[in-house]
Amino acid sequence: MNDSHDVVLSRVENSIAWVSFNRPQKRNAMSPTVNRRMLQVIEELEFRDDVGVLVLTGEGDAWSAGMDLKEYFRETEAQGLKATRKAQSEAYAWWRKLRWYQKPTIAMVNGWCFGGGYGPLFACDLAIAAEDATFGLSEINWGILPGGGATKVAIDLMSFRDAMYHTLTGEPIDGRKAAEWKLVNEAVPRAQLKKRVVEIADILLKKNPVALKAAKDAVRRVKEMTYENAEDFLIRAQEAANFFDDEGRKEGIRQFIDEKSYKPGLATYDTKRKR
Ligand code: COA
Repeated sequence: MNDSHDVVLSRVENSIAWVSFNRPQKRNAMSPTVNRRMLQVIEELEFRDDVGVLVLTGEGDAWSAGMDLKEYFRETEAQGLKATRKAQSEAYAWWRKLRWYQKPTIAMVNGWCFGGGYGPLFACDLAIAAEDATFGLSEINWGILPGGGATKVAIDLMSFRDAMYHTLTGEPIDGRKAAEWKLVNEAVPRAQLKKRVVEIADILLKKNPVALKAAKDAVRRVKEMTYENAEDFLIRAQEAANFFDDEGRKEGIRQFIDEKSYKPGLATYDTKRKR
């Protein structure tokens, strides 16, 4: 389906959209072409009924080596402020789209993940890495601060000490350390990476999709709120979800209370069955 020269590949299999950076010869560095293409690809997938979860990964031995130093930085800066701002907005646009994506998203980090790569890494709801993947805020190593949101990602996900160490030293860490520092949910041996990601995707595919979207947005929104504001926001968010999917919630209650066919503490109700 995809042109082999496409810098982004995608395919849908068993309700999972597999989207991958496809510039392995450049370690999947994000050029303006990649950024423009990525937005098109994820927009095309977002509202499809055959897509329940999106997985973002990389072809070859890289997830993404971050922003393309030549095409994203040097060449656009050479064209002046307008070109620089345009390139930034193209990159930020697809990361933002992904942060608020309609479907849950998983970063499957198969290799190098540097600098600007932390934008889409954070944009994905969950992240699973190969134990031997390599992460780094390498900006300090080539003379800039981690921009494009990367510093914010570091301090949002990691402890103050780990974020500061990671930012100032530019030392790479492996997938295990990334899991320990909470940059990713977990790290698994490379041979099991895809299997584990499919396992998690399958858990998500069984959930009520309206509830999933409401819940993932709520996690991101309430992080910035006071307790009082969060309490109020969550009431409104649930009521808004009920407006479109009141039956789903009632069916979940019915299967437990009346039918006794599952226990919500231990499993998910059968979303395929509606009265
Ligand atoms: N921007 C532009 N080009 C990049 C790139 C990037 N971020 N990362 C890799 N490349 C290019 C290299 O220039 C090289 O191109 P060439 O074949 O035309 O010479 C090609 O990709 C392969 O890179 P190479 O360094 O030879 O691969 P490696 O496997 O030995 O090392 C990395 C992989 C990721 C450790 C190394 O490429 C690297 O440090 N990249 C930069 C990472 C970075 O700082 N990113 C943050 C940007 S915000």
